[in-house]
Amino acid sequence: VRTQVAIAGAGPAGLVLACVLLRAGIAVEIVERQPRETVEQRARAGMVEHRVVEYLRAHRLADGLLAHGVRHGWCDFLIPGERLRLDYAARAGGAAHWVYPQQYLVRDLVAALETAGGRPYFARPVTAVHAPAGERPALRCPGLVVEADYLVGCDGPHGVTREALPAALRDDASHRYPYDWLTVLAEVDRPVDGVVYGVHRRGFAGIMPRTARLARCYLQIPAGDSAADWPRERVRAELGTRLLTPHGALPRVGRLTDTGVLRMRSTISQRLCHGRVFIAGDAAHLLAPAGAKGMNAAVADAADLADALVRHYQDRDDAPLAGYSARRLHHIWRVQEFADRFLDLLNTARPDGDDGRFGLHLKRERIRRLTEDGPFGTDFAHQYAGTGELP
Ligand code: APR
Repeated sequence: VRTQVAIAGAGPAGLVLACVLLRAGIAVEIVERQPRETVEQRARAGMVEHRVVEYLRAHRLADGLLAHGVRHGWCDFLIPGERLRLDYAARAGGAAHWVYPQQYLVRDLVAALETAGGRPYFARPVTAVHAPAGERPALRCPGLVVEADYLVGCDGPHGVTREALPAALRDDASHRYPYDWLTVLAEVDRPVDGVVYGVHRRGFAGIMPRTARLARCYLQIPAGDSAADWPRERVRAELGTRLLTPHGALPRVGRLTDTGVLRMRSTISQRLCHGRVFIAGDAAHLLAPAGAKGMNAAVADAADLADALVRHYQDRDDAPLAGYSARRLHHIWRVQEFADRFLDLLNTARPDGDDGRFGLHLKRERIRRLTEDGPFGTDFAHQYAGTGELP
């Protein structure tokens, strides 16, 4: 198969890129390892930043989100004895998150792609990338070769497109945090009306809205622990301890499902392109998962690359393409710095607690400054809400 742009991976990055290019009259083929049902049911992220909502709205890709998503403009910090609210929408000029489970957004994007004439290849893993210098690159899958002017790897952290980048460019900047996060979906007796971050000497705990009956919960656990170390009753007890609030202040947590462990690390590639091969989203960077930045950064990469490819094909202007890697890395490192500081605030360095007194006291002060009026909190609010413009 020959086309203009070949995309590996139908996650948020790959699908947004494919939709915008196709609508601009650029020929696109997108290849996805998983079957369609899997992609459209995988519960992942769910907090969509202000600038991403505005971008999707401008590109007529936000109908489902705007119809069924829920707008959130505040988050609470729970630190023993206090619940402090950051009204970040008020502090960031009205910018807010929209809670819309990622699998719903992916489902909407696949539908938009097909409406625009796209025919995604599902259940078709890319097994190799062929990109010799000076030749048209190609994606190789069982029984299918897609040759294109440009390849874009949107195939996530375990994808294969990165192999097309010279090894020297792949010594990514990587950081392993000294703890992991356990993640679990919890049935709740009423909707979670806002994100709650629990800062406790035993470690971080968070509860985030997902749907009216489901919440996404996180627990800081020792690095290397597995889900088997955390039976449901232990998870429930820890959530209760770390998110201790006056009776009824938080929804009651019922059945726990979909338990998983996030190995807490950040990895950012040195460069996001080589020759005619580009990488975007989690294939290019794994960000510390504080503040729900992963999916939003993935869409931001796709938005930037879509704009650059349109300028190449429509205006014969190659400058934006040449600047893609530098522009995105500038943005990604700012987001990473924000997420890294935020993780430092939320997580206990030593769960055995001996830095608990001082550590907790310092965190309490930092949270107070965050939630009081002032530049510190306002800057945080802008970064957390994701203000500013996507290309
Ligand atoms: N061939 C084809 N598709 C592949 C391959 C492969 N070899 N390897 C992985 N994929 C697919 C995966 O099945 C997945 O559907 O690539 C897609 C990558 O999607 P995501 O992991 O969602 O990555 P991205 O689009 O960058 O979005 C990143 O979304 O997953 C959430 O919050 C998470 O931060 C993350 C964000």
